[in-house]
Amino acid sequence: MESFMAKWVYTDTVKDHFMNPRNLWKEDEDFKADGVGEVGSLACGDQMRVGIKVSDGKVADIRWLTYGCASAIASTSMMSEMVKGMSLEEAYKISPSDITDKLGGLPEHKFHCSVLGDKALRAAIDDYLEKNGLDNPYKKQSAKIICECKGVTDQMIENLVKDDKAKTFEDLVALTGCGTGCGKCRERIKETLSEMLHIHGKG
Ligand code: FES
Repeated sequence: MESFMAKWVYTDTVKDHFMNPRNLWKEDEDFKADGVGEVGSLACGDQMRVGIKVSDGKVADIRWLTYGCASAIASTSMMSEMVKGMSLEEAYKISPSDITDKLGGLPEHKFHCSVLGDKALRAAIDDYLEKNGLDNPYKKQSAKIICECKGVTDQMIENLVKDDKAKTFEDLVALTGCGTGCGKCRERIKETLSEMLHIHGKG
């Protein structure tokens, strides 16, 4: 009979980070974060919290906590190792593929689990900059255009979801006019909307 471990579909690196997660935020540790970001929904069991310490414009230290699955744990553990010492700008730009590449890949259906860590990291950087009254040039730079005709970005959609202004595709159309030009972006809008609803626990 095939052994339990032989059925493990993850790489050895994923297994290592899952079994020995780095930079975990232990409850009894007095980690004073300069910025904290939280994303995800407890309802689907994948909430993520990231805290960073910042020194000289760099991520000096990081802690994280999640109720996510093996992939979310391994991805965030790997991310926490990667971003230490990075400038805030570099850390802001880290993408799920950068993380999954370092892990030697994740099963296709698990890729979405890796987005929570880097989203929470960006939220922690946003929080740090906001708390300190600093400009946040990274947020704008990292916005991706979803509807070219109407200039609607993923961040605009995210903000509307976060502020409880948009829950449906129709809400977004009414608020931004997205999808009302050539119409080729409609599927992309729906995918972005459902991703944001999920990430912010509004789904
Ligand atoms: S790209 Fe969105 S309507 Fe044309």
